[in-house]
Amino acid sequence: MSPLSSFFVLFSFFFLLLSASLSSSSSNAHEEKVQTLSTSPQYSTFNPKLPPKTLSSSKKFEGSSDLVNLRYHMGPVLSSSPINIYLIWYGKWTQPHQLLIKDFLLSISTINHRAAPSPSVSDWWRTVSLYADQTGANVSRSVVIAGEHSDLGYSHGTHLTRLSVQQVIATAVRSAPFPVDHRNGIYLILTSEDVTMQDFCRAVCGFHYFTFPSMVGYTLPYAWIGNSGKQCPEVCAYPFAVPGYMGGGGPGALSPPNNDAGVDGMISVIGHELAELASNPLVNAWYAGEDPTAPTEIGDLCEGLYGTGGGGGYIGQVMRDKEGRTFNLNGRRGRKFLVQWIWSPVLKACAGPNALD
Ligand SMILES: *[C@@H]1O[C@H](CO)[C@@H](O)[C@H](O)[C@H]1NC(C)=O
Repeated sequence: MSPLSSFFVLFSFFFLLLSASLSSSSSNAHEEKVQTLSTSPQYSTFNPKLPPKTLSSSKKFEGSSDLVNLRYHMGPVLSSSPINIYLIWYGKWTQPHQLLIKDFLLSISTINHRAAPSPSVSDWWRTVSLYADQTGANVSRSVVIAGEHSDLGYSHGTHLTRLSVQQVIATAVRSAPFPVDHRNGIYLILTSEDVTMQDFCRAVCGFHYFTFPSMVGYTLPYAWIGNSGKQCPEVCAYPFAVPGYMGGGGPGALSPPNNDAGVDGMISVIGHELAELASNPLVNAWYAGEDPTAPTEIGDLCEGLYGTGGGGGYIGQVMRDKEGRTFNLNGRRGRKFLVQWIWSPVLKACAGPNALD
């Protein structure tokens, strides 16, 4: 936001307050106005310094565009509208956790509900929608939950691998109410905190790929994200848990916006994977680096950055509400989320709607 527009926003805000007080019929309008103005805002901003994540393979670039050679490799992006998300709840999930994750996903588009106040989840997705394919079609801004399937019986066990996760999808698409949607569909497998995954915590908090026709019958883009709450919150629910080696002396973990480090942490990873799925669904569209088996994608480039001034142990300037809960995005139904920034192809830098400039 430019200084001029910030001024304008401030000015309009003041004007609104003033007119509200003037229109009240109370005789002590002056007193009311003073009270209104002295009320502390609903949130304050801060930029805490935290110990870095322990994830050894972190590919953080922290901003310098000279080092980043993000290129387009001629493949498709998710440009058809709407993007249909099919959710597979693997293992034991509580309804409040499911509602929280669904509120995040449903906050991406503003169809069917009023836009959340800025900075919003839908503003955040705008950066993702700047990616286009060779026909000039941009990533869709419209995202819906097209179907859900609960795999309560752990159909493929409590330890999954990169391959068996495809069998989970195969099982889900074979169950009647869950279609094979290879035009607009993406499949999200969300595992409960008792499910372990190959490389989970050690190298990945989530990943995306596409299914093999030999395993599922079709090529379907999918992502897996696990609830790390019990296994490795300091890695995958960072910054709501910080590495233990800091002991008691270092800066503490941040308070999660919805009081659940595991699921709140998962939401940022879901955002990361969705952004990458949308811009690189078949791993032949937008990525940096020369190695397509280890692409650096638009979420990887900004891991650990949530606001202006992030990098080097700082997460960037984010907001804190009256209860001390940390967030940077507003969602539907008054929800708040803390979600990492995304690489912008226009700014050639990490970007998010809570940026100060
Ligand atoms: C589509 O992507 C191009 C290339 O990044 C961008 O310049 C344009 O603003 C995008 N269009 C929309 C409607 O977002």
